[in-house]
Amino acid sequence: MQTQPETYNDKIVRQFTAMTVVWGIVGMAVGVFIAAQLYWPSLNFDIPWLSYGRLRPLHTNAVIFAFGGCALFATSYYVVQRTCHVRLAFSKLAAFTFWGWQAVIVAAAITLPMGLTQGKEYAELEWPIDILITVVWVAYAVVFFGTIAKRRVKHIYVANWFYGAFIITIALLHIVNNMAMPVGLGKSYSLYTGAVDAMAQWWYGHNAVGFFLTAGFLGMMYYFVPKQANRPVYSYRLSIVHFWALIAVYMWAGPHHLQYTALPDWAQSLGMAFSLVLLAPSWGGAINGILTLSGAWDKLRTDPILKFLIVAVSFYMIATFEGPMMSIKTVNSLSHYTDWTIGHVHAGALGWVAMISIGAVYSMLPRLLGQKQMYSVKAIDTHFWLHTIGVVFYIASMWIAGVMQGLMWRATNPDGTLTYSFVEALNATYPYYLGRLAGGLIVLAGMLLMAWNVIRTWQLARDLVPTPVLPPDVASAHA
Ligand code: HEM
Ligand code: HEM
Repeated sequence: MQTQPETYNDKIVRQFTAMTVVWGIVGMAVGVFIAAQLYWPSLNFDIPWLSYGRLRPLHTNAVIFAFGGCALFATSYYVVQRTCHVRLAFSKLAAFTFWGWQAVIVAAAITLPMGLTQGKEYAELEWPIDILITVVWVAYAVVFFGTIAKRRVKHIYVANWFYGAFIITIALLHIVNNMAMPVGLGKSYSLYTGAVDAMAQWWYGHNAVGFFLTAGFLGMMYYFVPKQANRPVYSYRLSIVHFWALIAVYMWAGPHHLQYTALPDWAQSLGMAFSLVLLAPSWGGAINGILTLSGAWDKLRTDPILKFLIVAVSFYMIATFEGPMMSIKTVNSLSHYTDWTIGHVHAGALGWVAMISIGAVYSMLPRLLGQKQMYSVKAIDTHFWLHTIGVVFYIASMWIAGVMQGLMWRATNPDGTLTYSFVEALNATYPYYLGRLAGGLIVLAGMLLMAWNVIRTWQLARDLVPTPVLPPDVASAHA
């Protein structure tokens, strides 16, 4: 740990980094628990706040907003300072974003198990918490763009464009989708009704995927992959095209969540068309990330952090190929409501989001603590394998279960009756739920190993703090 005043405000980065690991473990542990509940429903013990319906949004909020959110705060503050060659603007406001965001997370962890919810997926939190989120988010924007404004280099590095788009878009999505009429501290009604409400919700939901779970993490990719590989970005020009293409297309794809619903047919088709177009910028960007390794592929053999980063981008390619396919109406008629969607989600969430975040933390932390590397590089490698095997277990189980469910639900006898009852399809799914649970447990084991490695690295840094040498007269006075 440095004893000199730091050039950069890294205290805030260290705080968010530590909480990334903490919330990652909490969120994934809840994920493992609800995965177990789907196999053993009696695990809700008839206690309302342990019921699946209340813990599921706790899982999604904890992994997306607490784990993913802290990783985004940490890396954006880290990257913007280093690429703008300037200390973070407004230290006190930055500290407020940390404590404010943790307060939001704690409020979510209390209210969701209590059953207080707006009933909108990924926007469950009730209005008082929504207001706090808005205040914290405005402070975040002021700190981030304030730092860009006082930068010492003319150019704004592409990673900051992605972080900037993520910050602006999330503000817009959050405010529009949460417009509601409060009727008490813990209850409100949406200002929208019917199909408009559904459209606003999935405009929000899909762009939350595009900007919370994608754009900010692409910012991470554009900083940490070149840094870790010690190579420039494969094509800087492509990164700019990637940015504009991605943000222009994402906004229109939301209706693919509402195929075969009361939404006008043209809007559903528009959503499908834009989702298919979205394949191009997604893969263009991902290939740009992967080809950054050109001439340095050998590093993949020895550097487990690079393995995390590159396999993350590969999972991103899987999810962004699968997504456009699932948006095709005929495919969606099979996949919708099945576990295939859950497999797709976790290819993106556990494969892309979690792996790029974990890689970024391993890359950043030693530098934040004045160390050359993490306490155990071997443990990072073990974590990499645990995580990869866990994710593959998870998503393969869900793909098989999902396609099987879709086929069983739609199978009909010659006389038009259903071939299988719902319970028969459910019974056939059970073994795969066990496979998912095993995958989740393996991923969680990897996270615990990471926590151990992080703590040991921190201890090492603390032990290396030089003991201040007192002048002889002061020393004798103390004796
Ligand atoms: C140990 C790791 C994890 C396990 C065991 C796990 C487990 C689960 C389970 C059982 C569900 C409910 C599925 C259903 O209702 O059928 C779920 C949903 C979800 N999880 Fe995870 N999860 C994990 C990690 C993550 C991570 C890291 C993220 C995000 C960064 C994430 C994002 C989500 C989302 C967005 C949903 C809702 C999907 C939807 O509604 O379609 N999960 N998870
Ligand atoms: C080109 C990019 C992508 C497209 C076109 C796309 C498309 C889709 C489609 C068609 C669905 C199923 C909707 C339904 O039947 O209900 C879906 C669900 C989902 N996708 Fe993607 N996807 C993409 C990338 C990603 C990535 C990278 C992630 C995560 C990081 C992700 C996270 C999700 C989530 C969380 C859901 C479930 C939403 C819910 O119902 O709760 N997607 N996506």
